[in-house]
Amino acid sequence: MYRLIRPLLFTLPPETAHQAVFGMLGGFGALLGAPPRERPRTLAGLRFRGPVGLAAGLDKDGELAAFWPRLGFGFIELGTVTPAPQPGNPKPRLFRLSESGALINRMGFNNGGVDALVERLQRLTDRPCPIGVNVGKQRTTSLEDAAADYATCAQRAAPVADYLVVNVSSPNTPGLRQLQDASSLREIVGRTTDSSLGKPVFVKLSPDLEAEALEEAVAVAERAGAAGFIAANTTLSRPEGLGPRSAEAGGLSGAPLHPRTCATVAAVRRATRLPLIGVGGVHSVESAQALLDAGANLIQLYTGLIYQGPSLVRTLHEALP
Ligand SMILES: Cc1cc2nc3c(=O)[nH]c(=O)nc-3n(C[C@H](O)[C@H](O)[C@H](O)COP(=O)(O)O)c2cc1C
Repeated sequence: MYRLIRPLLFTLPPETAHQAVFGMLGGFGALLGAPPRERPRTLAGLRFRGPVGLAAGLDKDGELAAFWPRLGFGFIELGTVTPAPQPGNPKPRLFRLSESGALINRMGFNNGGVDALVERLQRLTDRPCPIGVNVGKQRTTSLEDAAADYATCAQRAAPVADYLVVNVSSPNTPGLRQLQDASSLREIVGRTTDSSLGKPVFVKLSPDLEAEALEEAVAVAERAGAAGFIAANTTLSRPEGLGPRSAEAGGLSGAPLHPRTCATVAAVRRATRLPLIGVGGVHSVESAQALLDAGANLIQLYTGLIYQGPSLVRTLHEALP
């Protein structure tokens, strides 16, 4: 089915296609039937419905939270949300590199604010799988004051979230990645865990950190109370052979990111025994298995869903160990 729809969607600008799909699913998502049979696993004290999660950024405001589990997602991550609503960067800010199965985005945390997401989750009656809320800082908040933004979001979201994610790795909010430095990260993770009502706090890392910086970030976050890690976010690097569109500014996701994600997952695994979610470039059973082999306990995806369609989720849900 998706093979028929995809060429039509790909004639639209990426964000328009995104909105069209959200409109359709909002209207007809209920027709998709029940979630597939559970393949449960426990991690960080949570019972996951299966090994495949929805990565942050696809449903930032939780508009389709009721619908994703029906595709076979065993957990979903909403956000990134910030304390107040913000528009993000000017459009166009999302680009397809179709020949490479990749995207470049510089969305910049466009979102409706944490309170709107919380209200939506309060109204959600059916919650078949864990829901994570990924939080970030307001664009206008200085790096010195950033920890307060994370704590505010965590405090508001914790009552309706199963886990929280500290996003210090988006390349599209100026300076954000500097928050992975030891002193900032210590304060952010400490204050977020203090505000999380005991819900596990994951830290989402960049695939562009040097080995030493990555190792230090993991150690600092673990000591400050992190329950686990997500590796990784999009990359500012540009592997060879991506074509002219690769000159767009922003974070690269999808198939070309996969080798770098595998290396990041392996490096995080060497640095800690805490739960680890692998994300980046999953587009097949083999690419998902490679992240598990590198040391991830669960995987997430975003760009693979755009290129392969929703059937990829069920395929992975059934096939992964
Ligand atoms: C358009 C777009 C928006 C994203 N927004 C967020 C976000 O708000 N927060 C976040 O932590 N990651 C965000 N990501 C990163 C994804 O969660 C994921 O880490 C990355 O895309 C690699 O996975 P993939 O190759 O399966 O897409 C975004 C990715 C894309 C393509």
